[in-house]
Amino acid sequence: MHVLVVLDHPKPGSFSAAVAQQFMAGAEAAGHSTELADLHLEGFDPRWTIADIDGDEGVATPADVAKEQARIERADAICFVFPLFWWGMPAMTKGWVERVWSWGWAYDQLDDREKSMQRPRTGVFLIPAGARSDEMENAGYREAIETAWIKGTFGYFGFVQRKLQLLNGSKGSSARRKDLLDTAYQTGLTLAPPG
Ligand SMILES: Cc1cc2nc3c(=O)[nH]c(=O)nc-3n(C[C@H](O)[C@H](O)[C@H](O)COP(=O)(O)O)c2cc1C
Repeated sequence: MHVLVVLDHPKPGSFSAAVAQQFMAGAEAAGHSTELADLHLEGFDPRWTIADIDGDEGVATPADVAKEQARIERADAICFVFPLFWWGMPAMTKGWVERVWSWGWAYDQLDDREKSMQRPRTGVFLIPAGARSDEMENAGYREAIETAWIKGTFGYFGFVQRKLQLLNGSKGSSARRKDLLDTAYQTGLTLAPPG
């Protein structure tokens, strides 16, 4: 498979960047090709503007959005790596989703939310989070995220294989971080095909 990794973190040496690298190493060890979209490094503009609205109406898709859509078209699987911020996506990823997965290109079926215009793909969220897993379970955050991202976002994307891999305790000890990096590698190594 060809695997696109979408990384959202401004610091090259961040834990999130290391997670993306480990995931890609695992995917490559399994025989997949990989491509990295490093949104901060590349200076992606996450702000939804009037040009995006005109693009929805078929006038012209903004060039930076078209570039990201071409990346998606090449990919059989897409992995998102970003730190959990306020129990949601950081602004950069949120804006990438809002602008790139546009109405008329990704979806148009408001009566059938599972009917994407895109071909079936595999999707993974690989998410460093400061909180412990039991904290997230008990407070209902994990369930809320599953509903919003796995059912909602990945549903509209048309993904058939969907995985949420939280990397809880990402601000913990170096031993804890090493375990989480191993999990990232294994997630790449065991990536399921779309079908
Ligand atoms: C603005 C901000 C909001 C955050 N919100 C959450 C949160 O809602 N839940 C959580 O578990 N961790 C939260 N964290 C912690 C980060 O997810 C965690 O520190 C992560 O490891 C940061 O990524 P990095 O280690 O690659 O820098 C937040 C951190 C920041 C800076």
